[in-house]
Amino acid sequence: MNILGIETSCDETSAAVVQNGRVASNIISSQLIHKTYGGVVPELASREHERLIVSVVDSAVNEANIQKNDLDVIAATAGPGLIGAVMVGLCFAQGLAYALGKPLVPVNHIEAHIFSGFIQEDPGHQAPEKNFISLTVSGGHTMLCVVDNNLRYRVIGRTIDDAAGEAFDKTGKMLGLDYPAGPVIDRLAREGDPTFHEFPRALTSQSRTSKSYRDNFDFSFSGLKTSVLNYLNNHEPAYIEKHRTDIAASIQEAIVGVLVEKTVAAAVKHDIRSVSVAGGVSANSGLRKKMEEACQRHGIRLFIPKAVYSTDNAAMIATLADLKLSRGLVTPNNYDVAPFASFAYC
Ligand code: KG4
Ligand code: ZN
Repeated sequence: MNILGIETSCDETSAAVVQNGRVASNIISSQLIHKTYGGVVPELASREHERLIVSVVDSAVNEANIQKNDLDVIAATAGPGLIGAVMVGLCFAQGLAYALGKPLVPVNHIEAHIFSGFIQEDPGHQAPEKNFISLTVSGGHTMLCVVDNNLRYRVIGRTIDDAAGEAFDKTGKMLGLDYPAGPVIDRLAREGDPTFHEFPRALTSQSRTSKSYRDNFDFSFSGLKTSVLNYLNNHEPAYIEKHRTDIAASIQEAIVGVLVEKTVAAAVKHDIRSVSVAGGVSANSGLRKKMEEACQRHGIRLFIPKAVYSTDNAAMIATLADLKLSRGLVTPNNYDVAPFASFAYC
């Protein structure tokens, strides 16, 4: 069974082939054009996807050592994402599926992130058999869910303002770092002191303003942004330059601290012993380390994708299509595009 996955929801043009549950190829072309603008420009993203999609898909098929005719299923992101960008990948997938006479499976991008901790490069999925807590942290989403073994999920917390990736990117921009600043802060933080300055951690045990923080799994990062801005405005440029790595490490510590505290608290409250962390921010080395330590302390099994599957990639799109098809949970050729995801609520 060969499944071609296509991902074009933001600024990565990606195609992958999953062959009998194993990733046979995963081509990712990151659009560098947005760097000049300090963020993703939607129209430019759509045009770049259009320019790259044919060669990226060809490379994925070639690297998997198959022909297009060997594909059994085409899977593509149908949202959420930049709608023009999603349309490029989905329409291409639609055309290819029609030309090959193969079914098209629409995939929810965030759902694909949720299950990316289970991507296998060896034959066979390590499909989740038990309930798990999922933390999805990307540039646009920060979300805690309880996922059951029928792949159904219930959102128990989400950001009320900025996403975790956005907090990295925006505070990094204040520090003069290029977009996306998350990986740069990660690099700088390795050289810095995370206890240098205590930035606020909203809705946690540190904030104490919220009496019910223990049962509150929502996130808020806009206060951190303001706090970093005030901190930078209140210190001399030379001092900031000297302590650049310490400030980066302190920002990372604040974001990571919130993510770890809430995820572990959710697992304890729901008496669930497996946690999965996914999305671009799950590539963060500080988050990986702190989450591993906290999970170990609480006897929780942790699933985190390899860094290449943390950020946007098509392997996760094909993998989720495979998981759902194998469990009869998806109807091919039945889809609509959506800029926003609809999620299940308790
Ligand atoms: O999942 P993703 O690739 O795209 C979205 O769906 O948003 O996530 C991108 C986000 C960006 O905000 C980027 O700064 C952040 O993930 N990111 C990181 C790291 N690598 C990517 N944040 C912190 N540390 C990293 N190593
Ligand atoms: Zn994503």
